[in-house]
This record gives sequence, C-alpha cells and structure tokens, in this order.
Amino acid sequence: MSGDVFPADFVFGVATSAYQVEGGIENDWSDWERSGKCKDKAARCGNSVEHWERFFDDVQLITRLGATAYRLSIEWARVEPKRGEWDESAWSGYRARLEALVKAGITPVVTLLHFTHPRWFHVETPWHEKSSLVAWERYAKRCAELLDGLNVHITTINEPNVFLLGGYLAGMMPPGIADGRKAFAATANLVRAHVIARNAILDRRRSTGVAAPQIGIAQNMLLFAPSRRWHPLDQALTRLAEGNYNHGFLEAISTGELRLQMPGFTAGRERIDGAAKSSDFTGLNYYSRTHLRFIAKAPWVQFEFLDRHARGLTDIGWEWYPEGFGQILHQLKRYQLPVWITENGLDDRRGARRSQYLYEHWKELLRARADGVDVRGYLHWSLMDNFEWLEAWGPRFGLYRVDRTTMNREWTAACEYFRSVATTRRLTPPPAAEQKSAA
Ligand code: FCB
Repeated sequence: MSGDVFPADFVFGVATSAYQVEGGIENDWSDWERSGKCKDKAARCGNSVEHWERFFDDVQLITRLGATAYRLSIEWARVEPKRGEWDESAWSGYRARLEALVKAGITPVVTLLHFTHPRWFHVETPWHEKSSLVAWERYAKRCAELLDGLNVHITTINEPNVFLLGGYLAGMMPPGIADGRKAFAATANLVRAHVIARNAILDRRRSTGVAAPQIGIAQNMLLFAPSRRWHPLDQALTRLAEGNYNHGFLEAISTGELRLQMPGFTAGRERIDGAAKSSDFTGLNYYSRTHLRFIAKAPWVQFEFLDRHARGLTDIGWEWYPEGFGQILHQLKRYQLPVWITENGLDDRRGARRSQYLYEHWKELLRARADGVDVRGYLHWSLMDNFEWLEAWGPRFGLYRVDRTTMNREWTAACEYFRSVATTRRLTPPPAAEQKSAA
C-alpha cells in the first residue's frame, strides 16, 4: 500500500462528549461553573449546542463528512440524577439515538465516563472510596443493557489521567481535591471501574449471544520534553511524566499492576484483580507536545507550550507538533494492541488551519502504520464547536462551526477536506485557499 493511502477498512469518525454538547445537564461541572471556579466566572455550559434536542438532525452532519464512526458519551447525571433512581426517559432517549446512528451506517464509540458525574457522586460515593464501585457497577450494568444487540465500540473512561491530575492533585476540576493519598486510591478504583464495566458488558453479551464489542479506554498522551535539554531535573521530570501520566494507567490495564511514582504528588503500587490484559485496543487522545521545567517551589513543575519551530501555537496555546503524534504512536507498540485515535484536533477560532493540521497528523499516522503500528481508526475532536471545560466558550474545536445564537452548524473548509480524504482514502494536501479565505 502506498504511503498516502488509507486502507479500505480504516475508519474515519468524529467525537464529542455529552456534557460538552448536549445541553440541559445538571451535574458536578454545572455546579463547578456556578461556584465561579472556571476561568471566566460568568461562563455556563447551559443549553450548550443543543445536541440532545437536535441529535436526529445532527446525525446528518456526521454522514455528510463521510464519517462512519461517532464517539459520544452517556451522561451519568442524565440517567441517574438522584442516587438509585433511573430516569427511564433518558435511557430510552440514548437508546433511540444509538439506534439512529447504527441505522445511518455509523458505528457508535460509546464512552461511559467523560469527566462528569451526577451531583451526588463526589459527596456520597467519591472515587477514593470503595462505595464508588458499587454505584459505578450499577450504572455500568445498565449501560451494558442499553447497548444490547448494537454494534458498538466502548471507551469505558475518558482520560483518567487528566481527571486525576485535575480533580485529585491540582484541585482545578471537580471534585476539586488536592491529596496524593486520595489520588492514588481514586486511580486504583478507576482501574477497577474499567474492569467492572468491561465485565458487565461482556457478561451481558454472553447472555444475549451477541458478539462482544471492542473495549478500551481513551488515554490523553502528551509528548514530553525537558524545557532545558541539559538540565537533569527537567530530564527527570520528563521521564516521570512519561511513565506516570502517559503510561501509568495503560500499564495497569495491560499488566494488572498500578504503579505510580510521582514524588511530591503521589506514589504507590497495587495489583488489581482482572486488570491484566483488560483492553482490546489502546485509545489515544493526542493534541500536543509540552515542555517541563523544574521550579524551586511547589508544585515543582511548570508545563510550558513552546513554539520551538515557529509554527504558531494553536489558539488555546498548545504547540503544533505532529511529530509528537508519530512518536507516541510508536510508544504504543509496547501494548501489542490495535490503536484507535479516540481524539485529535485543535482550537482554530478563525477556521484557518484545521485542514493543514489534519493533513500533517494524518501523514504521521500513515507513516506510523507503515512502520507497523496497527492504527485502525481516527476520530476527530470534534464534530462541532462545544463547551471546552475551564476555557468554556472561547475555543473552537469543531469541524462544523456553531453559531450559538442561531445554533446553526456551518459546513467549513475543514469539513470539505475531511470528507475528501475520508471518501477517497487518498491523503493529498489541502487547498491553499482555506488559509486565505480565513485571513
Ligand atoms: C480532551 C478532552 C475533551 C476535549 C479536548 C479538547 O482532553 O477529552 O473533552 O476537551 O481535550
């Protein structure tokens, strides 16, 4: 196969998460926003981009792109707003939406936990306590039933490392804890949660006689580099970040042993029943490279997004570094599993650079495939503009541009480019016109 062609069975798709697009959700994040903890204190996700209401029309946005997979998440707070009480209309709403995707020829890639939790969760059954797993198992079993008979893939948990760093070490996202001991306990329980969800889905499939879906997690990975190449402490931080942030959770669900060694943050070692070989694929969310600098006061480390190649940072301030995508893909060979790109994309507010970003990242992907990395699919973050957590409504990660006054979803040059590659399977550079028209 020549170097610029995607094979016929390679899957092109797009991704979102429930809270970021659906609208009308009350959960730990909506409380976080109200208590003024986001950067912009007035920012609210609110009705978001009304994807819940507009879902059946939005399916056409996906098919128009020539995409055949859609990664979306189930909002736990929507289906269990009060502990122990299901909202049956929400469950049937999700079922109808998943069926609509399948009917349109789109394979759902379903995430069970994408950062957000019902309001009661952190108060009554937080992740650092065993009770979390009781609540989770009940939810996961119900998710397994939801998927009965459908051809789907599953990412049980989105970016456990981002959630743990943000929510349990830095205290900047819900539940707002900064405690190394609790962080380790929560990490171990999230590994268990992955195993519990997997078993729930596999058990259910066995009892209904339908082929098992592919199950994994979506892991955020950054390419780490020392800010000062010669500095031993920057180098040591880089190694620690690679081992812990990038690979800690992946190793746990591969070998069955969770090992974290983050001096000053958290440390521990624990075998977790059932965790060994508990994934069918590695899901990679790749965005950027980050440089690490040791600083002489807590938290001892500074993350820096540098523009070392003068390419211009993306609008959110992350480095444009497709080479890192290729390098991380090579690192994933060690897990000996198929790889899915479960997220990749950029904040591009003027719509000037997305096609070029796609082109350069796809080039790296094809190169990694040619070097033997078994990448099966690519899901772009995101289908359309959405609520970007602490950054709220500033960033635009969407292939479709959303006008939040009219809720119109606007077809962009990047949509056109995505469609041309997804349908022809041939990787050619994007037309230069995009850059000019957005200038
Ligand atoms: C990832 C998240 C996703 C989105 C992108 C930009 O870390 O999984 O929800 O916010 O970043």
